[in-house]
Amino acid sequence: MTSAAAVAGLVFRELGYPAQHASASTKIDGIKPSPFSTTETVTPAKDVTTYNNYYEFSTDKGGPSVAAKDFKTRPWKVTVEGQVPKKQVFEVDDIIKMASPEERIYRHRCVEGWSIVVPWVGFSFSELIKRVQPLGKAKFVEFTTIYSPGQMPGQRSSVLEWPYVEGLRLDEAMHPLALLCFGMYGESLPNQDGAPLRLVLPWKYGFKSIKAIDHIKFTDKQPYNTWQRSAPSEYGFYSNVNPQVDHPRWSQASERRLGEFRKRPTLMFNGYEQVASLYSGMDLKKNF
Ligand code: MTE
Repeated sequence: MTSAAAVAGLVFRELGYPAQHASASTKIDGIKPSPFSTTETVTPAKDVTTYNNYYEFSTDKGGPSVAAKDFKTRPWKVTVEGQVPKKQVFEVDDIIKMASPEERIYRHRCVEGWSIVVPWVGFSFSELIKRVQPLGKAKFVEFTTIYSPGQMPGQRSSVLEWPYVEGLRLDEAMHPLALLCFGMYGESLPNQDGAPLRLVLPWKYGFKSIKAIDHIKFTDKQPYNTWQRSAPSEYGFYSNVNPQVDHPRWSQASERRLGEFRKRPTLMFNGYEQVASLYSGMDLKKNF
């Protein structure tokens, strides 16, 4: 374990970590700190692991931490296909070993108006892109959550179209902030938070940060993501955090940080202004 991870471990203990895990969790060794981390107060693990959105398991915030308890995350294969020189099927642990784990303490803003600050563990998704070398025709990346209705009770209902799909433009996926995530609070991800592998896109509304990924497809067409399919006038492809573009049914100007009473203003791109150049010249009201 590096000294930085040891320091982080100390802070975690003071804040009352470790996380509430529905399943056995493993400490991740060699985690390096990241310059992308915020110094804002980290939300207690107890809250982040018991207040979840994960419709495959439940539509209640408290449901996934109970219903995902026995979800099997090993063995787990991840297929990388589409506009790549050859389709490849990886063991998830081989993906996790592709680069050194970093701790990224990010703000996470849900489209519903609540937010948290989480010490995620992972590395930039661009590390995987570098290794699979997408072809010139690849302009987008589509991510899919595992389809396992036997294990995921929500997939036996029609609350959403299954499996859950998300997507990014290739340049968004290449941005160093886009995190391929397999841990939080220094340990492997709890099932309810997206084990074994998820995305974390801190400048976008939380629903873009897809959990339990088992397919990654490089494509020349813009993916049609699940929430856009479900309500196209309410959820767009980009879904960048934007306090000036309200959801048709509620304001996006402010948010409630879990554990706080008063609302705080929501920041453009959730405060991650370094992504602004990805969208220069675009009408962000139209491309919501
Ligand atoms: N991924 C899948 N497969 N299914 C989901 O229901 N919910 C999304 C996102 N990823 C969701 C998902 C939403 S709306 C949010 S806010 C975040 O996960 C919540 O992540 P967390 O529970 O780890 O805080």
